[in-house]
Amino acid sequence: GSNLSGSAGGAAGLTHRPRRLRVNSTMRAMVAETSVAPRQLILPVFVAEGLGEPRPISSMPGVVQHPLDAMGSVATQAAEAGLGGIMLFGVPREDRKDALGSAALADDGILNLALRAVRDEIGDALLVMSDVCLDEFTDHGHCGVLTANGVVDNDATVEIYAAMAQVHAAAGAHVVAPSGMMDGQVGAIRSALDTAGATDVAIMAYGAKYASAFYGPFREAVGSSLQGDRRTYQQDPANVREALREVLLDVEQGADVVMVKPALAYLDVVRAVRELVSVPVAAYNISGEYAMVEAAAAQGWIDREAAIDETLTSIRRAGADLVLTYWAQEWAQKWRAGA
Ligand code: PBG
Repeated sequence: GSNLSGSAGGAAGLTHRPRRLRVNSTMRAMVAETSVAPRQLILPVFVAEGLGEPRPISSMPGVVQHPLDAMGSVATQAAEAGLGGIMLFGVPREDRKDALGSAALADDGILNLALRAVRDEIGDALLVMSDVCLDEFTDHGHCGVLTANGVVDNDATVEIYAAMAQVHAAAGAHVVAPSGMMDGQVGAIRSALDTAGATDVAIMAYGAKYASAFYGPFREAVGSSLQGDRRTYQQDPANVREALREVLLDVEQGADVVMVKPALAYLDVVRAVRELVSVPVAAYNISGEYAMVEAAAAQGWIDREAAIDETLTSIRRAGADLVLTYWAQEWAQKWRAGA
């Protein structure tokens, strides 16, 4: 073009050369704006009733359902790797599911047994977190109990969540994480915890949880019985202002941390929530997001480690303080090794 015609060497004489900050990996590391430290990661863990051996989850290569007696070592490894916490999901035996999800409240319910085993083993070396939801425990697979018409009954469900949070706190949870998207769940849980004297137990609220196709592999991971969908309680993927409303309600009701879920298709929501509230923001890099990377990498279509790095970095860059990811253990080990 004509603007090049008078100059000796094209771009010679440029004052600003942003590439100078990319010349080698040491320079790039020095100016990196975002990092992902193990302490900011939370590993989701599945524990299944009646297992003798770990059971692979076919749609999540590398992830397993653990037997109860493996939980101590799973937690110890996570603590040694420097992770912030583990989030426990219980998978009851099929014959322990019922319409009310009663095994969620039972002292010998699988999640409650696992929480106790982990907390006894780990003390405060790792934060022990629990999923407060009924979907793993109900025979219909919904996150709450149903009315006679088959609709999820908000207020009856919230009462059960409140009792469940008390049971989890008694079993040793440091953090309870209500994921059912019922109205008023955070306030009810906060007051139930306080009534039980569990004022130090924190609530990580799934504030903006969307009705997502990317939960697919999780359904296998927890042996879900769900037919249909969760669109009457989880959010419509089209909406972001609605997410902000949900998050503000959770903070008003006492949420200590708010979560956005899924992460990747909702990075704009992560950013908007980060700018709205002052509590820590978590984002859940969910099962389908994990499965897509693993499946493409297994085909040789993408570089697995680079894709994991980019995935976790992007979630942090969008504004998440904490990231729940099935790669937490692997990432932390790599980080410790200085890779
Ligand atoms: C509900 C719950 C779900 C996930 C976490 N908690 C499933 C759902 O809402 O359908 C999904 C996590 C994932 O997909 O990795 N107990």
